Amino acid sequence: MKSVIAFIDASRERFVDELSNWVRVPSISSDSRHAGDVRASAEHLAAHLRSLGPSRVEVWATAGHPAVFAEWLQAPEGSPTLLVYGHHDVQPVDPLGAWVSPPFEPAVRDNRLWGRGVVDDKGQVLIHANAIESFQRTNTPLPIRLKMIVEGEEEVGSPNLDNLLREHADSLATDFVCVSDTAMFGRGLPSLCVGLRGLAYLEVFVEGPALDLHSGSFGGGVMNPILALAQMLAALHDAQGRVSVPGFYDDVLALTPGERKAIGDLPFDELEWLKSTGAPSTWGEAGYSTLERIWARPTLDCCGITGGFQGEGAKTIIPARASAKLACRLVPNQEPDDILRKVTTHLTRIAPKGVRVRVQAHSGGRPYLSPTDHPIYEVAKRAFSRAFGKPTIFIREGGSIPFVRTIADATGKPCLLMGFGQPDENSHAPNEWLDLDNYHLGIKSAAYLYDEIARMASGSESESR
Ligand code: BES
Ligand code: MN
Ligand code: MN
Repeated sequence: MKSVIAFIDASRERFVDELSNWVRVPSISSDSRHAGDVRASAEHLAAHLRSLGPSRVEVWATAGHPAVFAEWLQAPEGSPTLLVYGHHDVQPVDPLGAWVSPPFEPAVRDNRLWGRGVVDDKGQVLIHANAIESFQRTNTPLPIRLKMIVEGEEEVGSPNLDNLLREHADSLATDFVCVSDTAMFGRGLPSLCVGLRGLAYLEVFVEGPALDLHSGSFGGGVMNPILALAQMLAALHDAQGRVSVPGFYDDVLALTPGERKAIGDLPFDELEWLKSTGAPSTWGEAGYSTLERIWARPTLDCCGITGGFQGEGAKTIIPARASAKLACRLVPNQEPDDILRKVTTHLTRIAPKGVRVRVQAHSGGRPYLSPTDHPIYEVAKRAFSRAFGKPTIFIREGGSIPFVRTIADATGKPCLLMGFGQPDENSHAPNEWLDLDNYHLGIKSAAYLYDEIARMASGSESESR
């Protein structure tokens, strides 16, 4: 491993430059005007991976944006296989005016790389590519077989993922999965994520009159869709912050006392955290700590609302329609389809007289809990700690990555969530950044992970560094 690590140290600047080149490709998956850029991003990555030495690299078409697949199978017969996952699509950039430097003109300031997708998730994909390159270029045989799948539709809910995985099931066969698309608990704190929430996203449309009506001539005569929607949204939580949808909590796996203690023992500074949000106080379901609510309790949130007159000045109307976008974050063992059904039924039932209600489902994903009694989790902890020189902690995350549960169910293999982001990295927000020290240590962590998995398989002990 010495020469691999020395190569990583010597390549520090170049690895940042190569990430910058990829970040310049504006692969926004939600915006059809950027479809060509998402394709260009896949081709860019494929060309880069091909340049790293012998491998098989393919761009896989889907009904939407393409994915990139690569494999390095030179390790001897009987070596374990690790499938690495990431995504090359990125979030939209608005509000554009809030960016200090343009989102697709990556810039280094304060030992950080700034730009859309630097940490979510292009940087984390290249952490693995760079680690693989560091074995190849130093003529150090890769200690395990490696495969990589890099999706182009993660940020839009992975609508074609099931088909993609089914179509390529043979290529994707593996012993273990590693997803690098989460954040660490804090700076310098190696953290292995062992739980993700799922997502059920829906849009509710409330319709009243056929067209906007004069609110003097008609006000008081027909129901106002905005008022109806507001009543419905206000009825989605009770005074304790619990979701009022009947059956919403039916399948929720309760935290064990041991899990609650482990979460309570983490070095969480709630005041610091609150300050980072800018909100005046915390809020949520009574009876649970903030971390418990974010990691292990389901939520129902409103992400957007429309209706009525938005222009300058006053316009007196009863609007024809109003709508809202709702996101439920799910925990084991809730199922997105079941929750969608329950929320839809509830919204329809609580709608006041005088409006029509229609609900449209958007794509979502299922929650994941790691089988932490599997030895791979201790192996990953060791790898993380070798790079960072600190004990690795178990954490969870409140976000969602549909691939994780889909691949875990399809292969029956454990999934590692080895993420290298920071909690304040502004992913999805203006001024996304990547901590360059962390990027560097992430590359070493990935290299150590491959080494430790090989050691586990051969039954030999770990080197100290
Ligand atoms: N990398 C995130 C997932 C994530 C977010 C993990 C926060 C840990 C903490 C991923 O790119 C993402 O944004 N996922 C979406 C999924 C959705 C579109 C199905 C999410 O969580 O909103
Ligand atoms: Mn991501
Ligand atoms: Mn994301």
